[in-house]
Amino acid sequence: MTYQCILTSIDETTYVASITLNRPEALNALNFQLMTELNHALATFDQNPAVRAILISGSEKAFAAGADIKEMVEATPMEMLSKGYLEMWDAVAAIHKPTIAAVSGYALGGGFELALACDILVASETAKFGFPEVNIGVIPGAGGTQRLSRIVGTKKAMELILTGKQITAADAYGMGLINHVYPQSSYLDDAKKLTAEIASKAPLAVRMAKEAVHNSDRTFIHSGIELERRLFSILFSTSDMREGMKAFIEKRKPVWNGH
Ligand code: CAA
Repeated sequence: MTYQCILTSIDETTYVASITLNRPEALNALNFQLMTELNHALATFDQNPAVRAILISGSEKAFAAGADIKEMVEATPMEMLSKGYLEMWDAVAAIHKPTIAAVSGYALGGGFELALACDILVASETAKFGFPEVNIGVIPGAGGTQRLSRIVGTKKAMELILTGKQITAADAYGMGLINHVYPQSSYLDDAKKLTAEIASKAPLAVRMAKEAVHNSDRTFIHSGIELERRLFSILFSTSDMREGMKAFIEKRKPVWNGH
């Protein structure tokens, strides 16, 4: 697939794949084409052994200013339900490898929802987050009402979603919504360093850790702990687990082969 709305690259030394949202004329509004390309790139990276963690960013002015309003303005309810458009955010959350969103500027509506669908969210000090959907007669439709409430609680989520107001990176950090606020001049490098740190860990262990943490949203704690115990035990069938423990005992750096 040739991409028109995103840029992709792989750093083979760090195992980090980068995806840059690239529709500057529309502040990276997430139209059907962009989301299709993003899903395709993520699925491809998920299968590629040269990739161990994925960084998603936009431009300095906008991570993404939401779903594409111009594309949706004439849509019917059945088109919205049957086209599979809104499901594309869930496909981002379903990727097995860790995803890190690096936000600068606007992350609004579907752009905020995309950042929330990633595993880790970091931002430059210029970032602005918000759900302006109520200003245009809709509600967050790509997981925002659910993901935001689970992270910050229903009261704070209600205020953001019902007022449509934007909050700063510092506010978002204070609410426990984002992992780090970095200086504007270095946010992308800082985000890459964090992504590379994750990519340097045992890949199968990282994958199962992600699955176990995600499961905490979906289950009662005793079933979650049971799953965690099974995933932990399954890792004892991997050569990376033997390598990691032996390397510790032999006081050397482990070499991961992903098996
Ligand atoms: N969809 C389509 N085009 C968009 C867009 C969007 N979400 N956001 C910005 N653009 C376009 C503008 O129409 C404009 O294009 P033209 O030059 O052709 O007019 C261009 O991007 C630049 O935008 P502005 O001139 O508006 O830039 P600004 O700096 O004055 O304002 C902004 C920036 C505050 C982000 C403003 O663009 C804005 O409010 N955008 C819409 C935000 C929004 O409502 N997002 C929610 C969308 S609905 C949604 O996401 C539903 C869901 O849950 C899935």
